[in-house]
Amino acid sequence: MFKTSDIVGGSQKYTGSSRIALLAPEAYLTELEVIRENPTSLVHVAEIACPIYGRIQGFVKTFPSRFIESALANELAAYLLACADQLSVAEQAYVLILRTEQLFKVHPNFRVELANDDGLSYAWVTKAIEGHPLRLLHPVNEPELQKRLRKWPLLPRVLAFDDLVANEDRSHDNLIAINNGVFALVDHAEIAGGIARVDEFLDPTMRSKNQLLSMLYGDVVPSNISSGMMLAAERHIEIFQQIEPELKYWYDILFPDSNARSHALLSFLNERARNSVPRIRQQQGFLI
Ligand SMILES: Nc1ncnc2c1ncn2[C@@H]1O[C@H](COP(=O)(O)OP(=O)(O)OP(=O)(O)O)[C@@H](O)[C@H]1O
Ligand SMILES: [Mg+2]
Repeated sequence: MFKTSDIVGGSQKYTGSSRIALLAPEAYLTELEVIRENPTSLVHVAEIACPIYGRIQGFVKTFPSRFIESALANELAAYLLACADQLSVAEQAYVLILRTEQLFKVHPNFRVELANDDGLSYAWVTKAIEGHPLRLLHPVNEPELQKRLRKWPLLPRVLAFDDLVANEDRSHDNLIAINNGVFALVDHAEIAGGIARVDEFLDPTMRSKNQLLSMLYGDVVPSNISSGMMLAAERHIEIFQQIEPELKYWYDILFPDSNARSHALLSFLNERARNSVPRIRQQQGFLI
């Protein structure tokens, strides 16, 4: 993982135009509320000192130490790709370095899972998005919720995006309703084979389960949605090329000793982007 020499001062290096910053432990101010603890991820809200926005509320997401590298790699890649695809995500994201002790205090039942050799842990933090998770918005009114999603102008682009990154986890939980009929995306830990994958064996031709697509349309996808997905897919190569240098920059910092790992994810995404159009065409049953 990082060499601590990458940390300069309090709120660190980030590339000029980037929406991602690297934060040192001092940027973590106060724990506010534990949101979720499960065997693959731990999420809480905390007050964070952000170099751009000052004191903000952030969703601090951390992972058992054996998953942390692939989880961060996935969140970073999908966040950058989503920004380049002009999809709505948190305004700012951070890779936060914490003393593992700080996390023990918030998640005392997960000491064993979080423990590591150097006493430093890493979290993926996103600035809180103002809005409600879809799951809470219409808990008993599923048809209303589906109706809203089907009318969402960006839906085909999101469906194509989830296919690009092989995201199998676009549940109600991972969409935030930010406005009437407008949604933001969170949680990209489970892209590209998920956090438990063996990176070197990523298969770019894998068929990923597109949860949102099946929830809304089952096996019969309307032609305007299919063609919208194809149109979105045509931009995937350009989008990948746009973010590749920055993603590489982050991977070089995060995984200085493990080129194979970052190389595997970068070439997976590159291949997926190159094949987005034929892959989606084939899935949607287009003849040409
Ligand atoms: N930036 C954010 N703004 C508002 N709400 C957020 C944000 N990030 C996360 N959330 C909320 O916190 C919940 C948990 O976060 P997230 O989905 O990232 O973790 P998770 O579901 O535990 O992770 P995984 O599915 O990878 O195990 C989300 O479902 C969402 O409701
Ligand atoms: Mg989630």
